[in-house]
Amino acid sequence: MPRILSLEVDISHKVSYNWRMSKKNMTKLSTDPYKGVRDFYPEDMAIENHIWNIMRTTVERYGYEEYAASILEPSELYYAKSGEELVNEQTYTFKDRGNREVTLRPEMTPTVARLVAAKRRELAFPLRWYSIPNVFRYERPQRGRLREHWQLNVDLFGADILEADAEIITIAHNILQNYGLAKTHYAIRLSYAGILKETLEKEYALSHEESIRVIKLLDKFVKGNENLLSKDEFKNALQEAVPNKADTLKKAFEKKTFLQALEKQDGYQYSRNLEKLLDQEGIPAQMNAYLTRGFDYYTGIIFEVFDTNPANSRSLFGGGRYNDLLDIFGAEKISAVGFGMGDVTIRDVLETYNLLPNRESVTKLLIIPHASEFIDICKKLAAQLRSFGIAVALQLVEKKMGENFKYAERHLIPFAVVIGKNEEISGMLSVKNILTQEQTPMRMDDIAAWIAEQQTRKPVLQ
Ligand code: HAM
Repeated sequence: MPRILSLEVDISHKVSYNWRMSKKNMTKLSTDPYKGVRDFYPEDMAIENHIWNIMRTTVERYGYEEYAASILEPSELYYAKSGEELVNEQTYTFKDRGNREVTLRPEMTPTVARLVAAKRRELAFPLRWYSIPNVFRYERPQRGRLREHWQLNVDLFGADILEADAEIITIAHNILQNYGLAKTHYAIRLSYAGILKETLEKEYALSHEESIRVIKLLDKFVKGNENLLSKDEFKNALQEAVPNKADTLKKAFEKKTFLQALEKQDGYQYSRNLEKLLDQEGIPAQMNAYLTRGFDYYTGIIFEVFDTNPANSRSLFGGGRYNDLLDIFGAEKISAVGFGMGDVTIRDVLETYNLLPNRESVTKLLIIPHASEFIDICKKLAAQLRSFGIAVALQLVEKKMGENFKYAERHLIPFAVVIGKNEEISGMLSVKNILTQEQTPMRMDDIAAWIAEQQTRKPVLQ
């Protein structure tokens, strides 16, 4: 009897082995993916590739180079500066067989900081780097939030100036434009790390813990929208979080004296300057002093991008300046600014605005042998076309002719050709356009050039 070993690793670090001795005990397995992650069937992969292609081409036009790393990281990488919620509630962490604590990366920023710190003496700064890793967060799966997503990371190291901050936000804006979104479809919200905390503690005498509690509430209820501050829910939560200071804060929020106190901070003024610079370049970033980010490593500007359609309430991009993160590796200061942008939220947005492209097959031609004895000549033609860079599928399984054309249609292959005795003798073929049913006669040798020409006309099957 074969022995089947299943290894179950749960996130509370418990590792248990479960020996199943016989097939008899095996129950039928579910075909569902693990909770909160996605399978990518070819039609999903086509969308994913479209999303990644726009990311890639846009950032490469700005001179960014691609890097990558393993999904496994030592857990300690996140302890210092990734933020309490992420580390305590959202990481997939387990002990490996050598008793080391390992985490599936929940974000890429500590990893890229590690890579840069490790080779800082060999690298030529400023450094423009990007990556599209999958990252894992143990979150409640909901629209715009899953447990695994792919996240474009764009980071600029060694340029601690306003123009570098502007470049990063300009790239975010350009990515959205390249997906076909209009400026009215999204809002870029801008602020500066620490100004809320400093105002709460210096002007309103809140302790560190109290200010953290209030900032969490602002993050939860305000989401950058000042009007929501009058909502009862927020007021009640504030009362509970800081009973002694709630009344003063409520008044300060309502009368905007809180905002006036925020405006006095240098960081606020810096973000305003950035807002002006971006405005001159036609980029619609808007200062919003109530914006918060859930990471401890930000030291300068912070920003998020939101869809203006309430159907998609989750952020599309999140980023900012983090000049101190490389310190955790004992390296000298290397300034950094960047953002992360997820595939889940952008897909929702592109669907909402009907901006996903029609799907096209990579395969351009289905070659169908009239009978099994014609397989060799079909293979020869396929090899010739492939050598010209044309993607070709060979029908290996015998089907009725109508079914072959149906098969091409189901797989979105735009052209099909049948090869039998006549074709073999004459060297002439008739290429069928699956969409229009039109037949075009041509010499076998001319087919590559003909398909290449059709491709420039882009036949699309829905
Ligand atoms: P973040 O705001 O946590 O930032 O994530 C960036 C983007 O990733 C979000 O705006 C969203 O599009 C996507 N995202 C985050 N969590 C999820 C999720 N559970 N499901 C689907 N999509 C999600 C960071 O991760 C920073 N490390 C970004 C950064 C890079 N800062 C500087 N450089």
